[in-house]
Amino acid sequence: MGEGAPDGTRVDLPAEKLPRHIAFIMDGNGRWARTRGLPRLLGHENGASSLRRVTRRCRSLGIPEITFFALSTENFQRRPKTEVGFLMKLLKSYLVSEREELLENDIRLKAVGDVEALPADVRAELAETERLTRDRGSMVLRLALNYGARQEILEAVARIAREARAGRLTEEDVRALGERGFRRYLADPEMTDPDLLIRTAGEYRLSNFLLWQCSYTEIWVTQELWPDFDVPQLDEALRAYCSRERKYGAVSPADLAARCPQGHA
Ligand code: IPE
Ligand code: IPE
Ligand code: MG
Repeated sequence: MGEGAPDGTRVDLPAEKLPRHIAFIMDGNGRWARTRGLPRLLGHENGASSLRRVTRRCRSLGIPEITFFALSTENFQRRPKTEVGFLMKLLKSYLVSEREELLENDIRLKAVGDVEALPADVRAELAETERLTRDRGSMVLRLALNYGARQEILEAVARIAREARAGRLTEEDVRALGERGFRRYLADPEMTDPDLLIRTAGEYRLSNFLLWQCSYTEIWVTQELWPDFDVPQLDEALRAYCSRERKYGAVSPADLAARCPQGHA
């Protein structure tokens, strides 16, 4: 915890500049284990501790929304059965063990992704944690589970087609939806666009995560492996974020002010 405000906010992390939604691609568990001569599964187990630490730090900073990529559709389909089975066990125990802390800290847990394909016992614990925390309002902790962004967008299009078939939407209505309206058909209509996306373990790719939502998201890639990712690394990403200028395609006000002389635009 840094010096500064009583809630642990460092003076160089001004609350008004902090991201309101941070998304995490938690990568590098396997490499963390390999470099230690340990089984991959231990990498995942230690990764769960990072998730806990990062959640606590974000909560203490007052960040209202965080989304973790915990399992992609492709991970679910392409990883060895034993690894997926272990991840399911880990997820189940996380969903049970975190309940008390989530409730105490006024955190709502939500999931996005094709959770119907997860084992029944995991689904049951997920539903229970979502139910218990659904009225908690200080922060949303979202887990992307068996999630793929292309699948999410296809599903949204299928929902729109269904509405159109039922005569509830015309082609004009679909155009008029705009970016905000389209969100209603995505996996979690309440999800805001992430302000900051953090990917650990040094890969410069999105791996099918939040393709629609990350159009203007600031990206931070660190070489740190996810099990080693801790408060100092998070704070470093936040400091970098706070110093960035988000332009959304416009001209920076500083450049607008610095007009060229004599009528040149
Ligand atoms: C991320 O770590 C966790 C999941 C994808 C579930 P990895 O398991 O991808 O770790 P590396 O990329 O093999 O190091
Ligand atoms: C992305 O990591 C998915 C998660 C962190 C859950 P991967 O390790 O699956 O990504 P690739 O395969 O390196 O692109
Ligand atoms: Mg990986």
